[in-house]
Amino acid sequence: MPKSDNALTIFEVLRESHEKQRSFSEKLIKTSGDSPERRELFELLKNELFAHAVAEDRYLYIPLMMSDAGLNITRHALSEHHEMDELLEKLTETEFSHTGWLSLAKKLSHVVHHHLEEEEHRFFQQAGKILPDQQKKELAQQYHAEYVKYLNKDKDSLT
Ligand SMILES: [Fe+2]
Ligand SMILES: [Fe+2]
Repeated sequence: MPKSDNALTIFEVLRESHEKQRSFSEKLIKTSGDSPERRELFELLKNELFAHAVAEDRYLYIPLMMSDAGLNITRHALSEHHEMDELLEKLTETEFSHTGWLSLAKKLSHVVHHHLEEEEHRFFQQAGKILPDQQKKELAQQYHAEYVKYLNKDKDSLT
């Protein structure tokens, strides 16, 4: 049966951003020096990771945390979000032309790929058993609205 857009589940909507994260991070680690490509891709990846993580924390992991079965998944995922945040912060503080920039970016790309793999092949399956079907659809809409809001936000205004 064909699905209409408003019947998408939280997992399907999350995967759309995952594809962007993969693509931006793969392109980013092919850039060199202080180039417009590096600056642009870093900005894209940073915004994508930030908006996705805020909305995913609020509309997937917090609801999951309310059940005992979801507690371990949630703790694990949030600690990886934190690890990505720290790497983004280090990259932001490092000159684009610095020799260490690329190895930090590669490390970030590795953590991003590992995290997405784990979400898509483990956490989402477990979460799928915990959350009721109706909630999976409601969370998709709430997640999406929050994601769009943070994608357009000036990150520095948050602190
Ligand atoms: Fe995710
Ligand atoms: Fe995540």
